[in-house]
Parts: sequence; C-alpha cells; structure tokens
Amino acid sequence: MTAIVPENVELLPYAPEDLDLLRRANTPELMDQMGGVEDEAAVHRRHERYLLLPIGHLGQQFRVIIPGHPEGVGMVGYWVRTDIPERTLECGWSIEAQYRGRGIATIATTTMIQFLREGGETCLLHAYPRIDNAASNAVCRKAGFSLVGAVKDPSVGAGEIELNDYAMEL
Ligand SMILES: CC(C)(COP(=O)(O)OP(=O)(O)OC[C@H]1O[C@@H](n2cnc3c(N)ncnc32)[C@H](O)[C@@H]1OP(=O)(O)O)[C@@H](O)C(=O)NCCC(=O)NCCS
Repeated sequence: MTAIVPENVELLPYAPEDLDLLRRANTPELMDQMGGVEDEAAVHRRHERYLLLPIGHLGQQFRVIIPGHPEGVGMVGYWVRTDIPERTLECGWSIEAQYRGRGIATIATTTMIQFLREGGETCLLHAYPRIDNAASNAVCRKAGFSLVGAVKDPSVGAGEIELNDYAMEL
C-alpha cells in the first residue's frame, strides 16, 4: 500500500453526518481501550458529546479524509482534562483497518497539533496509548511527543491496563 503525503490528508470538524464514522470506530481494538464496545444508544450519546465539545470549548474531534474517501477513514481529536486544575489537553486517534500503515494517523495527529498551536494553545498535550499498542506508540514518537512514564488506566476494569504517558508542550 502506498504511503500518503500530508497534502492528501484533511481534517474536518466532527459534524452531525459523522454518526456512521463513529459507528465504524466502535470496534473492540479501539473501544477496549475506552471501556469496551458501545451499544447504539451509547454511540449516540458519544456523537452528541462530540458535537458539543467545541461549543463548550472543551475540545474537538475531526473526521480524517483522504482523496476518494470524503466519508472519512478515521478520527483524531483532543479534549480538555477536567481532572487537572491547570489547562491540559489529551488527544487520541483511530484509523479504519483497511487504511492503516500509510502514515495517515501520524499526519492527522501532526496536523491537529499544528491546528492547536495556530489557535494559540501553549499548554501540555498528553496521549495515553496502551503499552502494547505498537502502532499508537509509534504515532506518538513520530508526532513529537516525549515519553513521560507509565500509568494504570482507571477507566478499564480494576485499573490493570498499563498505558504509556506521552506529553508535549504546544
Ligand atoms: C494506531 C493507529 C491509529 C495507527 O494508524 P496508522 O494510520 O496505521 O498509523 P501510521 O501509518 O501513521 O503509522 C505510524 C507508525 O506506526 C507503525 N506501525 C503501524 N502499525 C504497526 C504495528 N502493527 N506494529 C508496529 N508498528 C506499527 C508504522 O510503521 C509507522 O511507523 P513508521 O512510519 O516508522 O513505519 C491504528 O493502528 C488504529 O486505529 N488502531 C486502533 C485504534 C487505536 O489503537 N487508537 C489509539 C488509541 S491510543
């Protein structure tokens, strides 16, 4: 599969027509890292949350598009950490299985970081891939994050899942 160039990856703000994009992202490999695959009602709630994020200045999700795929091949997004008093952002990403390995996640993440910097953000941005998620750890490194350490994920099970904590100053 041919690698894709940055000019061919575009981010569009998450919109009402992106419900199917969210449904396609509702797979075990992604959602196991976010509490498990969701039923249709939970997907709808997430959809509404994503639509409201920018209105409340609490973050932004994006549809990732490449030529020939205006419906989107994945998502990237950031959100404000409400558990930390000083402004801190966290981000995440997913690319649909058939489009992986072409550099899309790295380009989409780099583009989002640039968007945040151009918007005047200067705070810390974190990402927390599972320690065994080689592709996502690679995205962090390639997008310029530094590894801070490891943390237990409090949102899954009894906190037995280990995540790498990556951060960068915007
Ligand atoms: C993580 C994910 C978004 C990567 O998407 P992608 O578009 O394939 O990523 P890229 O093509 O930009 O690849 C980034 C790097 O990861 C490496 N990589 C990709 N798949 C890999 C794998 N299975 N094992 C090891 N490295 C891998 C690539 O080689 C690339 O590094 P390189 O350019 O030095 O070769 C995608 O695998 C995914 O959606 N996974 C499920 C959801 C998920 O885990 N999201 C992250 C939650 S934190």
